[in-house]
Amino acid sequence: MHPVIKWDNNHILLLDQRRLPLSIRYLTCRNYRDIINAIKRMAIRGAPAIGVAAAMGLAMGSSAIRARNFDAFRRRFREIADEMAEARPTAVNLRWAVERMSALVDSCSVIPLDEIKQTLRRESEIILAEDIDINKRIGRNGEALVPEGSTILTHCNAGALATGGYGTALGIVRAAHEAGKSIRVFADETRPWLQGLRLTSFELMEDHIPVHVIADNAAGSFMRRGMVDLVITGADRIAANGDAANKIGTYQVAVLARENSIPFYIAAPLSTIDLSIKNGENIPIEERDPSEITHINGRMIGPRGVKAINPSFDITPAKYITAIITEKGIVRPPYLAGLKSLFTTEAQSAQR
Ligand code: MRU
Repeated sequence: MHPVIKWDNNHILLLDQRRLPLSIRYLTCRNYRDIINAIKRMAIRGAPAIGVAAAMGLAMGSSAIRARNFDAFRRRFREIADEMAEARPTAVNLRWAVERMSALVDSCSVIPLDEIKQTLRRESEIILAEDIDINKRIGRNGEALVPEGSTILTHCNAGALATGGYGTALGIVRAAHEAGKSIRVFADETRPWLQGLRLTSFELMEDHIPVHVIADNAAGSFMRRGMVDLVITGADRIAANGDAANKIGTYQVAVLARENSIPFYIAAPLSTIDLSIKNGENIPIEERDPSEITHINGRMIGPRGVKAINPSFDITPAKYITAIITEKGIVRPPYLAGLKSLFTTEAQSAQR
């Protein structure tokens, strides 16, 4: 699989996902604002991937700071961090990465500035490597839930392209395939950005995993005909009660799965869980430009002047989620206690 993001000396190269699969081209980001723009404009997308991009962008931004002392350096770093955190509102992984890099700066007050800059660069590389490892663990944990011979429906792209590599929902698919199970995937096309058609099918085909793209509005019909055994999606933010924000359309897939007695799983790393948010109503939902709905390849398709509304994510209430699969294990309802315990064991093992 093509790396989603990588360092190239002092620049960052991003696989431009707006062009996939028709062209495989890397976008060169020369300063932190290039990274912010790439996140806003969807050159890189997917919750964990934009977290990694933010960390690398901050490391790059910090390397250009000219400051006389630590306080001045930290002040400027925080300004850059605030700008970075605003790039997209829903995926909490972005804020998570910004907070991790900011905490690192705070802990470096007695270190020479050049060393701090190197430390930030190393930390961004660690975040990228950790993310791939986390996804492999999610894959191993979730693989047991995938029966031999099953058809897995997924929505949007929660694969290698949406993460540092390997993927969350598609990480489970990959792990099941690597375990020798004969499986196939139904990928919702995922209007308006077509992540399912352009990205999910592309990366599964590269790995020789059988995939069929289906129209978003076909999912219910396939479920009713008994052609879907389980659903696995990623998430952009999971509230303390288990409500999950993911790509617009996930909610209706979850409701249809329940109606048809099909398990609906969310696969996500701990960095997607936001215990500070009580329930899904408090998760900010990004509204994107209406032209993403009315235009295809820059060409207006609807009647001139037609209005459109374009929320990029929706909330799936916890009651529709059979289980949440993380790198630390599988959490089942009631989610409040289960999700909290993931972080308690995390803190305990950090203390040891
Ligand atoms: O708008 P996008 O493409 O960034 O939305 C991505 C999704 O909704 C993914 O399902 C989610 O980020 C999980 S990716 C592992």
